[in-house]
Amino acid sequence: MQVALWNVSKCAFHFSSVINTTARCVCVRFLSTYKTSHRQSIMSTVSTPPILHAFDEFRHYDTADYNFHVGAPHPDELMQLSRVIQQTVQDIRAVPSEVQSSYFQYGATKGSDSVLQHLAAFLTQEYRAPVNWQNLMMTAGASHALGLVCNVFFGDHDGVVFLEDPTYFLAAEIFRGFGLKVIPIPKLDNEQYDFPLWKRRLDEGLHGIRADGHFRGLIYIIPLHSNPRGRCLSPEEAAALARFAADENLVIHCDDVYNSLSYTGSIPPRLFPVGSHPNVISAGTFSKILGPGLRVGWLESTKENIDRIALNGIIESGGCANQFGASLIDRMFLNGLLQTYVKNTRNLYKEKMRLAVSILSEHLPNNVIWHKPQGGYFIWLTFPEDYEEFLTNVLVPEAKRRNVHFQLGSRSCASRFCNGLRSTDDAYTCTSGCQNSIRLSIGHLGLSQLPEGLKILCDIIKKR
Ligand SMILES: Cc1ncc(COP(=O)(O)O)c(C=O)c1O
Repeated sequence: MQVALWNVSKCAFHFSSVINTTARCVCVRFLSTYKTSHRQSIMSTVSTPPILHAFDEFRHYDTADYNFHVGAPHPDELMQLSRVIQQTVQDIRAVPSEVQSSYFQYGATKGSDSVLQHLAAFLTQEYRAPVNWQNLMMTAGASHALGLVCNVFFGDHDGVVFLEDPTYFLAAEIFRGFGLKVIPIPKLDNEQYDFPLWKRRLDEGLHGIRADGHFRGLIYIIPLHSNPRGRCLSPEEAAALARFAADENLVIHCDDVYNSLSYTGSIPPRLFPVGSHPNVISAGTFSKILGPGLRVGWLESTKENIDRIALNGIIESGGCANQFGASLIDRMFLNGLLQTYVKNTRNLYKEKMRLAVSILSEHLPNNVIWHKPQGGYFIWLTFPEDYEEFLTNVLVPEAKRRNVHFQLGSRSCASRFCNGLRSTDDAYTCTSGCQNSIRLSIGHLGLSQLPEGLKILCDIIKKR
């Protein structure tokens, strides 16, 4: 709460500088008093530094560390963003008052026409395929979007979610929060989808699935540069999945958070008929291409689906999920700073990934299986099966001792979330090698830190 207040007051401070100087003086005085008392109150109760962001909660967080664990931008990148935001806030001074004041009003449920139209133009350029602004609504990020979809489509009846194994571990937590039953997508040994088994499961009425006009369930996937494997679906896999979803009345939720971080020249062509097929929803976010603290993202689907989501009680009550954040984004589209920032971020991350791949290619032993990602944040390393204990008991502590952090693959294992949710009738075992894999994120390291961190990691791996 204190941190939230501090952030709000920081924001108030920035905005006050463009409104008038008297207000600014008052604000500065308030802030310096607040800042001192805020620090004092925290210092008097705890001996550790105040918590400013999510990763402070880990308690071992240090920006000097080689942090391959965190899937978020480096603080230096966020300082670049801060400068762009400051410049954009300055621009607000020239905005007509009826528009300026609207930034602080309850927002239209989907967001203003202006931000939706600019977002559609941006996405049309990114995807090199038309995006219709009437198929969009603003959200407070991809996590919020997923919560909305679960709430709107599965809030009032039993729901089931099919997901890839391994998967984005926090998405599974969102499903758990809605009491949805989580099941790994049935796959054959060669990693192809096992549609006959999948269909049998649905038809047998297993897992309490009903066919009464609602979507029967949700398929959660990260089609491009996935978390945690850094993989992309092939067009053939996507087409088969889309056919199956349409035939079985399942809705595909594409967590499209890494699309703009494609490093091969342009974003691959869209894999699903987003906007034209009612069984497909896409969630995008500015968290990875600007900063997660902004809490702005979007949903794209057919107009009918978007209209239905926008009728959600929470959206109706509060209006646009983050009206001020969406308005800032709108200004950044207008002054062109957003487009430039995304281009620079993409180039920086492309270079980080190139460097990481070249170091791993040179230093990883041959028995580690991995592939070179074409985009996104993550590299997934799979070790021989008998490495499980080594990873947990040697690699993690030894790497930590040398200030290198990463995530164990077991954290992303979908089967962890499948057992004991609403029923214990099925037990799922992990078949995807999560237990003997690790996930590396390139997001949170500076370019200059990356080689040393990876060499230390490979050095420890080679000692086994
Ligand atoms: C696949 C995936 N979805 C969603 C998120 C969270 O996105 P947001 O910050 O927009 O809620 C992340 C962040 O790590 C992610 O990897």
